[in-house]
Amino acid sequence: MSSGEIRGLTGFRDFFPEELALRRHLFSAWRRVGARYGFTEYDGPPLEALELYTRKSGEEIVAQLYEFEDKGGRAVALRPEMTPTFARMIAARAGGLAKPVRWFSIPQLFRYERPQRGRLREHFQLNMDIVGETNPLADAEIISAGIDALRELGLGAADIVVRISDRRLIGALLDANGISAGDHISVFATLDRLEKEGEDGVRARLAESGVESEAATRLLAAIRLPLEELAAAHEGDEAIAEAACRLSTVFAHLGAAGFTDFVRFDAGLVRGLAYYTGTVFEIWDRRDELRAICGGGRYDDLLKALGGVDLPALGFGMGDVVLTELLRDRELVPAAARRVDDYIVCVSDAERPLALGIARALRDRGRRVLYDLRPRGVGRQFKAAHQAGAGRTVVIGPREAERGVAILRDMASGEEREVVLETLTRQPSGEEREVAPETLTRPPSAAPTRPPSTAAGGADAR
Ligand code: HAM
Repeated sequence: MSSGEIRGLTGFRDFFPEELALRRHLFSAWRRVGARYGFTEYDGPPLEALELYTRKSGEEIVAQLYEFEDKGGRAVALRPEMTPTFARMIAARAGGLAKPVRWFSIPQLFRYERPQRGRLREHFQLNMDIVGETNPLADAEIISAGIDALRELGLGAADIVVRISDRRLIGALLDANGISAGDHISVFATLDRLEKEGEDGVRARLAESGVESEAATRLLAAIRLPLEELAAAHEGDEAIAEAACRLSTVFAHLGAAGFTDFVRFDAGLVRGLAYYTGTVFEIWDRRDELRAICGGGRYDDLLKALGGVDLPALGFGMGDVVLTELLRDRELVPAAARRVDDYIVCVSDAERPLALGIARALRDRGRRVLYDLRPRGVGRQFKAAHQAGAGRTVVIGPREAERGVAILRDMASGEEREVVLETLTRQPSGEEREVAPETLTRPPSAAPTRPPSTAAGGADAR
């Protein structure tokens, strides 16, 4: 057996407490937005039948699958995306679900990609999808939700842009250039590489797929045009006119909702996944320094292909990796939240039983409570309270124990007050009762508490 250090796998993250705090920050923002848009949360299994992906997701994702044979000889794969699981689950209950269905999920996904900035071998993704609606208002609604999922984290129109197109429009454009329907999916995949490989690279790939050079030139010129100009340049082509009109409606709805500054038409956007049939969109950082934060679109045929029910659907996936980078770049990562509410400081070990009772009572009230797990000087305990980010300390010494009181010190202001111990231990929802001034034997300023900086040596000796 070999010995030595075992490292985590490349492309997989450890979430140390700070990173987990940021992840939770993201997830709770996403859940708030999901709720605001009337979406309910669901989840599925992380392992699925391999065929769920090979049927419809497209070459790129299939090439990145973590696939293997399980012990029963079944071909299975870790989920690389949520949409096929979502489609399968919706199809299984389609009859009983009120339409349109609005569901969201935050799955962890696995793709065997080359790890690089913004791309890992696992990531979390907010998925929001609507089923049962063909109206362009649904397209505008899902895009709005995507924008709001980012606005909720502090990002604005100066930080992000949604690029929107429609595969029906690009499909009609391919038809107009003599590219047969059977070749559309592979040409979409080629056009999706425009950003990465530039015009020359795409031109070479189009030539390989049999697209004539003139058609490629016309196509590449057309996808640079604004929507109105593209439609005008193909006047008389009904399919292009219809698709352009539908897309204009989506933009009009987004404008009415106040999102004009966030969105822009980009005919070159086609998306890599094979199953999209209509509107497609991606959200990018405005400076174009990072990979796409979010991608989605309409997939009206997928439920039929995977579950045999004919229902239109659309949605998006928003990844946590690129988004986390963007939030860090824009300094939108919140400071670590306070970890504990109360730190109980015992002046001597004789107060330990009292401290344990108080801790138990405060925890029962839902307060986050810490105390030292070994006897240490008061100064050290204060230092620990400070490091734990405690909001206040509860100090008990022999004199306090004898009189049945404790000293509460607010760690931010340094203010101290004496309270009756019973009120800390016996009144689950009650306010702490302050000791009336006349019952005090000494003023609060003479309490056995000093700031950690000055108390470290002296107070330890108490
Ligand atoms: P996708 O474009 O493959 O779409 O992924 C959506 C987002 O997930 C990307 O924009 C990116 O932020 C993130 N992402 C993807 N792969 C990785 C990776 N290897 N590492 C880090 N982040 C990654 C889909 O997955 C569709 N199923 C989305 C969808 C839902 N369409 C309709 N409904």
